[in-house]
Amino acid sequence: MIDTQLHGDVLEIVMNNPPVNALGIGVRQGLAQAIAGAQTNPAVKAIVIRGGGKLFSGGADITEFGKPFAEPGLPQVVDAIEASAKPVVAAIHGMALGGGLEVALGCHYRIATPETKLGLPEVSLGLLPGAGGTQRLPRLIGVEAALEMIVSGSPVPAAKGAELGLVDKLAAQDQLAAEAIAFARTVDGPRRTGDLDASATADVFERFAENNKRKIGALDAPKACIEAVKAATELPLDQGQLKERALFTQLMNGDQSKALRHVFFAERAAAKVDGLPKDVARRPIAKVGVIGAGTMGGGISMNFLSAGIPVTIVEMTQEALDKGTGLIRKNYEATAAKGRLTMAQVEKAMGLLSPTLDFDALKECDLIIEAVYENMDVKKEIFTRLDGIAKPGALLASNTSYLSIDEIASATGRPQDVLGLHFFSPANVMKLVEVVRGAKTAPDVLATGMDIGRRIGKVPVVSGVCYGFIGNRMLAPRLNGAIAMLVEGATAEQVDRVSVEFGMPMGPLQMIDLAGVDIGWHRDPNRIESVRDALNAAGRWGQKTGAGFYDYDERRRPAPSPAAQAIIDDFRAREGVAPRAISEDEIVTRTLYVMVNEAAHILEEGIAQRASDIDIVWNYGYGWPRHKGGPMFWADLVGLNKIVDALDRYRDRLGPEFTLSPLLARCAKEGRPLERDARA
Ligand code: 3HC
Repeated sequence: MIDTQLHGDVLEIVMNNPPVNALGIGVRQGLAQAIAGAQTNPAVKAIVIRGGGKLFSGGADITEFGKPFAEPGLPQVVDAIEASAKPVVAAIHGMALGGGLEVALGCHYRIATPETKLGLPEVSLGLLPGAGGTQRLPRLIGVEAALEMIVSGSPVPAAKGAELGLVDKLAAQDQLAAEAIAFARTVDGPRRTGDLDASATADVFERFAENNKRKIGALDAPKACIEAVKAATELPLDQGQLKERALFTQLMNGDQSKALRHVFFAERAAAKVDGLPKDVARRPIAKVGVIGAGTMGGGISMNFLSAGIPVTIVEMTQEALDKGTGLIRKNYEATAAKGRLTMAQVEKAMGLLSPTLDFDALKECDLIIEAVYENMDVKKEIFTRLDGIAKPGALLASNTSYLSIDEIASATGRPQDVLGLHFFSPANVMKLVEVVRGAKTAPDVLATGMDIGRRIGKVPVVSGVCYGFIGNRMLAPRLNGAIAMLVEGATAEQVDRVSVEFGMPMGPLQMIDLAGVDIGWHRDPNRIESVRDALNAAGRWGQKTGAGFYDYDERRRPAPSPAAQAIIDDFRAREGVAPRAISEDEIVTRTLYVMVNEAAHILEEGIAQRASDIDIVWNYGYGWPRHKGGPMFWADLVGLNKIVDALDRYRDRLGPEFTLSPLLARCAKEGRPLERDARA
């Protein structure tokens, strides 16, 4: 894992631990030995450390976390590097992240290629830099710049690193190794971590915490990062490191970091598709067609345009086409106004868009995505038509949220080319795409669907065919439970508060208001069979009409609505339901535990490949708080027995469609987690 080579009087130490040179025990031992050996070898005057392969190092080996600890630890290795009597130069390319950057900080000098990214992303794993990073970085680049890097976790490019004093010298990629060796010969001996600029005062930390209050929220790691950097201003290096270690260990053993580490690996696992040979050939996608220029079609198109892929967008009328194209432009211009795009980039993206009323124009496309409204007959008609137009081998995708891909595919003579690509609203923003695998979807079509998802910056997750796929199928009992509790006596704020305090961006009723109370409404104001019907009949269709379960101001901020409450009270009276007090325990059960139960059905039926895929769907499609891992991870944390008991307790209130998942019941009984080996 560690290769060494003597170039004259300079010892080159190369970390070789593909794919990311993670600093597992083998690398740590090798580094420690090489540094120790160099101290006693009179032929060595200076040392260069670099990474083999595509990067310097991606940091500590995360797979070792939570397991028994093996010596030497990374802090010891970094200390040994810094203590070297012979100068040590880090030669950095690609990335130096987390422990990787901490190794570089232990080195006396740093030389990097201009393309390199340097960062301490531990905070996104619910951790802090635990190998001296919180102590050495502020001493090197100042407290404020260090706080920003450590608490945001965002890497900086090498040029910025040079400005900050993190990088001593830049070198081109093909010159890096040679320049580092030459540089090592010229430096003035070891240069160890210096003293901290004493001008940093306590109010820097208070100000920083205050300015980042919203981002930090309920998260433990950013708070601990601030505390550790503060320790750098108060304690000598060795004592500061002890404080850092104590905070690191505390975070490592906490549930938030466990959850965030789970999400890291879950996201990577979701990319792996069961039963799909790794080397299956992908179909080339150079041009995309989108049918429907509504909100979804427009948002979907933007993903491809932003990735530089031309899109032909088709509508039925010029008016709808103009409206859709106008909305795409407006969205891009709004992003440009926030400084996140240049107008040249906006024009470049718009230049790749070909709006047309001519369905035949789709014959050029390698992937065609249908994004019209949810009606099976309409969709089948479109796919039959596509069958006659699309070129052989083109992928034919539907963005349906609920309907059967198999039935849609049956309308074509090429069901092997049909799949679902279910985007989440707003489609240009939300990262999730459910890639729906029909019974006849060909392996290369599925693999291409996953690939194109990644190419446009999404997180694709495979789902089998069922009503609502993974995400929306789980959403159904949650929304139904929320509405039923209103009828039984809860208020909208009471129901939603439980989810918001849990860490979701909004509660289930706020979500209905956002999506539209009128989705699926029969449009007959005299037919009132549900609370939704009653609200719709009163014109309360959600945010778009300024009123739904809540009242909304012009900035779409919700306020409790006496008018909506009166409609709900009236509906309750007409149904003859006596209102009762509803406990938080009941709300948790009927809006969260019911989702876990539905997810367990989904897992057992093989609709989701693995429990962690379900977690990723909810993280990226519905804003499940990452520090709570995802519904399946969270369920294991809560305790499956507790969940099954609660579902039993409220069984009479869960409606006739509720069935307890046999998998959930079994795992609870046997004390087995849902997360691993769930279908065994
Ligand atoms: N430890 C263990 N495995 C890691 C890893 C790490 N630090 N980083 C990546 N991997 C694994 C991934 O799980 C994946 O495995 P798989 O192929 O079996 O799924 C494989 O390496 C390739 O990873 P990616 O698919 O993510 O590769 P990319 O090229 O897209 O991205 C990367 C590379 C930017 C380095 C990205 O992997 C990454 O962000 N890694 C994590 C970086 C990080 O958070 N480092 C801090 C670690 S904590 C730490 O250092 C503590 C210290 O302060 C004490």
